[in-house]
Amino acid sequence: MMENTNYEKLEKIDMKVTPPGPKAKQVIEDDKKFLATTTKSLPVVCDTASGSFVRDVDGNVYLDFAMGISVTNVGHVNPEVLKSVEEQLHKFWHFAGTDFYYPQQVEAAKAISSVTPGKFQKKVFFSNSGTESNEAAIKFVKTYTKKQEFIGFIGGFHGRTTGALSFTSSKAIQQKGFFPSLPGVFHAPFPDPYRNPFGIDGYEDPDELENRVMDFIEKFMIKTFIPPANLAGFLVEPIQGEGGYIVPPKNFHKKLRKLADENNAVVIMDEVQTGFGRTGKFFASEHFGVEPEVISLAKSIASGIPMGAVVVKDKLDFPESGLHSNTFGGNPLASVASVATIKYIQENNLLKNATVQGEYLRMRLRELMDKYMNIGDVRGLGLMVGVDFVKDRKTREPDAKFRNSVLIKSLENGLILLSTGSSAIRIIPALNVTEAQIDMGMEAFERAIKSSI
Ligand SMILES: Cc1ncc(COP(=O)(O)O)c(C=O)c1O
Repeated sequence: MMENTNYEKLEKIDMKVTPPGPKAKQVIEDDKKFLATTTKSLPVVCDTASGSFVRDVDGNVYLDFAMGISVTNVGHVNPEVLKSVEEQLHKFWHFAGTDFYYPQQVEAAKAISSVTPGKFQKKVFFSNSGTESNEAAIKFVKTYTKKQEFIGFIGGFHGRTTGALSFTSSKAIQQKGFFPSLPGVFHAPFPDPYRNPFGIDGYEDPDELENRVMDFIEKFMIKTFIPPANLAGFLVEPIQGEGGYIVPPKNFHKKLRKLADENNAVVIMDEVQTGFGRTGKFFASEHFGVEPEVISLAKSIASGIPMGAVVVKDKLDFPESGLHSNTFGGNPLASVASVATIKYIQENNLLKNATVQGEYLRMRLRELMDKYMNIGDVRGLGLMVGVDFVKDRKTREPDAKFRNSVLIKSLENGLILLSTGSSAIRIIPALNVTEAQIDMGMEAFERAIKSSI
């Protein structure tokens, strides 16, 4: 087997120059010239990554609490995943897994089915991204129910291809100029306990909040313009990711499932961001006591080798060949990476570590909240943690300017973070993060907050 000459263990923050340094500046300039405009936010240019650390092209070493948007959950260049991909690289890279056969994708489907909630028989469709997973999920549900209309949730994010985009609603810019997308997609309020959609001072009680949302769906949607005969299903995240790391009240997903069942509709659970141990359980659905019949996956499924999947209860499988397919789905490199990722999470007790370190991280953040009035809320489950910055704790008015300053200053202090929602920062370390690394991160984060005031 080939030695990976790039593999180098990085262990602590080491800032040599304020980012972007001279080499980074050059890459950023060329990037602007040659790459289409997307959503770039911070001037960090990766050279090498290992575990929880990233070295940029100017030699700065950062602690990474963004992990490629919760993709490299088992750490950058995880040695076990690396080994399995390296072995596969010498066998074959592609064989069109939707048209021909190879054991690697069967093994990946078995491994994924064994960790998704529910003991029932499942079928897996492999895609290449989160948005493509949701496109496939929509087709599964339309085909199974023979119905066409859907309900999504305000603040949800499900991708940017036309079908998925019709549900995406965490920022208005995502829709700007793209109308019309998929017809027959309607949005309900999401039960956000911090800024509840019915007013800050109303429905503080989680039960009341859930029931209000359910009433809205029943009385103002199903009874008025989406009759059960049209309602194919719901597309929902267990915890809203791009919408601001919003954890709904505990019984919300059970109530939604009940409502769906009563109307012969199917809930598609989008676990693209919450999946594979991020919340301290393999899937966030488990926190809410639901076993989705359709579950969309991507991001950390194969540690950064591009892959997505939809896992459906077998009764939802496509009844005929030709209804759906693709070229790269179940790619052998991604398949082996996915099996190795799941094995690594299991063998190294990463769910437990995510739970323990997540609690520690939130405790450290609550200490900061006691010191700095700019922090309005600390929320999340496991290592999916959001910190919301506000102008005023009472009104909970979002403070995007302060949040953006904290992001930049954190980077300058050697900590890579990402924003989410209108005024939050998400903290999503590797699932094998240590307490010492969290302490290191919190020191940089506090310095960033202090210098932003
Ligand atoms: C919950 C959720 N669904 C879908 C997507 C889209 O995934 P992708 O960017 O791989 O298409 C994302 C991406 O952030 C996501 O967070």
